[in-house]
Amino acid sequence: MAAGWTGVRDKRVVITGATGGIGLAAAEELARRGARLAITARSQGRAAEAVGRIRAAGGDGVEVDVLQADLASLASVRALAAELLQRYERIDVLVNNAGAMNASRQVTGEGLELTWAVNHLAPFLLTTLLLERLKASAPARVVTTASDAHKGKLIPFDDLNAERGYAQRGFDRYGQTKLANILFTLELAERVRGSGVTANCFHPGTVASGFNRNNGALMSAVMVVIRPFSRSTARGAETLVWLADAPEVSDQTGGYFVDRRRATPSRPAQDAEAARRLWSVSEEQTRA
Ligand SMILES: NC(=O)c1ccc[n+]([C@@H]2O[C@H](COP(=O)([O-])OP(=O)(O)OC[C@H]3O[C@@H](n4cnc5c(N)ncnc54)[C@H](OP(=O)(O)O)[C@@H]3O)[C@@H](O)[C@H]2O)c1
Repeated sequence: MAAGWTGVRDKRVVITGATGGIGLAAAEELARRGARLAITARSQGRAAEAVGRIRAAGGDGVEVDVLQADLASLASVRALAAELLQRYERIDVLVNNAGAMNASRQVTGEGLELTWAVNHLAPFLLTTLLLERLKASAPARVVTTASDAHKGKLIPFDDLNAERGYAQRGFDRYGQTKLANILFTLELAERVRGSGVTANCFHPGTVASGFNRNNGALMSAVMVVIRPFSRSTARGAETLVWLADAPEVSDQTGGYFVDRRRATPSRPAQDAEAARRLWSVSEEQTRA
């Protein structure tokens, strides 16, 4: 599978959530390695700042396009996919990295609980809409930023929109969406097996990023307190960059990685039946 992968140089790499944190650090490193980047952004100001940093890292001649998208909106994800398909004949790597935790329950304009919409449904929809292009570009890779926060969680199939349960300042819900990232990767790997497309996800460690800065002064203060014990964004991006770039992972698919090693996620994250069920309900939730 995926024979002939020589790294990201001159490859089209689409990455969500590269306006800050782990995604930006990954984009900087991928630019250094010669990738042709397309980053998504919901704010022009954040995008401009990120492009400046990516160009500074990659040097003159680095290619980085910005596509506007609010991943909280399925309509915006559909428009993003259409634009990507129109612009790029090849998509070699798709990195689903954007994500957030929300301390209180919020509902999107499309009636979906926000954390689920951004962290799970957006990558699910974007990937499925780009899948034929990824297959046509094979060898190709899908890399998704998951988290160890999936541990101890289950997919609430009887309460997908978190109408009944939204406890612990959103930590539980966030963990469910990160479990969904792993199950999505498991099922995607099955569905594309033999096509030359691989699907893997990873845990970046505890990273000093912009994460959890959207939840008020108390949570921001917590992030400041744990900062000395957290990794840099560059360190947090290492496994992402490796999964996107390294020839030696060409034959790896369906995996959950920590520090460039295949790791064993929780038992519910290995449940193939739950992965199939999640895929099917996600199709229903994202149906136009
Ligand atoms: N930090 C950690 O310790 C940690 C640990 C495990 C997993 N993770 C995962 O790592 C990934 C990246 O997080 P991070 O730590 O780098 O956090 P971050 O610094 O807050 O970066 C999050 C990125 O996602 C984007 N984003 C969030 N909501 C969006 C939306 N509705 N539409 C479009 N873009 C959106 C942000 O865009 P803006 O610039 O517009 O805000 C930003 O580019 C997430 O999937 C997170 O779950 C983080």
